[in-house]
Amino acid sequence: MEYNKIYNSLEKINSSKYLIKNPKNYKNKWHDLFQNHNPIYLELGTGRGDFLFNMAKKYPNINFIGIEINSSQLVRATQILENSNLKNIYLINMDARDITQIFGKEIDTIYLTFSEPWPKKRDEKNRFTHESYLKIYDQIFKKDKHIVLKTDNASLFAYSLESLSNYWYVFNIVSLNLHNDERNISNIMTDFEKQYFKEKRPIYYLDAYFKN
Ligand SMILES: C[S@@+](CC[C@H](N)C(=O)[O-])C[C@H]1O[C@@H](n2cnc3c(N)ncnc32)[C@H](O)[C@@H]1O
Repeated sequence: MEYNKIYNSLEKINSSKYLIKNPKNYKNKWHDLFQNHNPIYLELGTGRGDFLFNMAKKYPNINFIGIEINSSQLVRATQILENSNLKNIYLINMDARDITQIFGKEIDTIYLTFSEPWPKKRDEKNRFTHESYLKIYDQIFKKDKHIVLKTDNASLFAYSLESLSNYWYVFNIVSLNLHNDERNISNIMTDFEKQYFKEKRPIYYLDAYFKN
């Protein structure tokens, strides 16, 4: 997917107190940074940050960390946060593939929101629900594993259902149309989701766990 490039994006995001510049220093110490022992939820591919920002506002007793590879995407995320006074959210500019370098067994939930679908078979290993990623997540989940995924992409959704169940995850919720689901699933929309919602595209949703 192509994203707008923002001039001087690295400089811009580095001036934000919400961007963690040296995340490796916090491995096994994220609770010290948050100054509490509340659960830590990660979003991989956090984009412009709307979802995480609204989650952090709604759930002050949960700590949120957004991982995003593209510094231009994070410019808007840091801007939103700079105008807030939130103490339960940080952003990191890095490749999600490397998260074991910065987290020990500290994470409670991982959100995969509108991740790149990588439709070509040769790119399968880049999908956030590929087995190689599920093995990475094993190294950072505190105890039980918990993944929440939303996508507009039916192929990625079907792939993820299969990949997660082959990896012994169990599904709390599976929805083929999140916004029209009679169970009234609690939901905060991401940036991409708002657009798809306007276009009336169905959003696929799953909430999966594995109890250790
Ligand atoms: C389609 S956007 C979705 C953004 C946001 N989650 C939303 O729903 O509005 C996917 C995001 O994932 C980021 N991304 C893709 N691969 C990544 C990786 N390996 N590590 C971290 N971020 C990644 C992209 O830069 C992009 O911002």
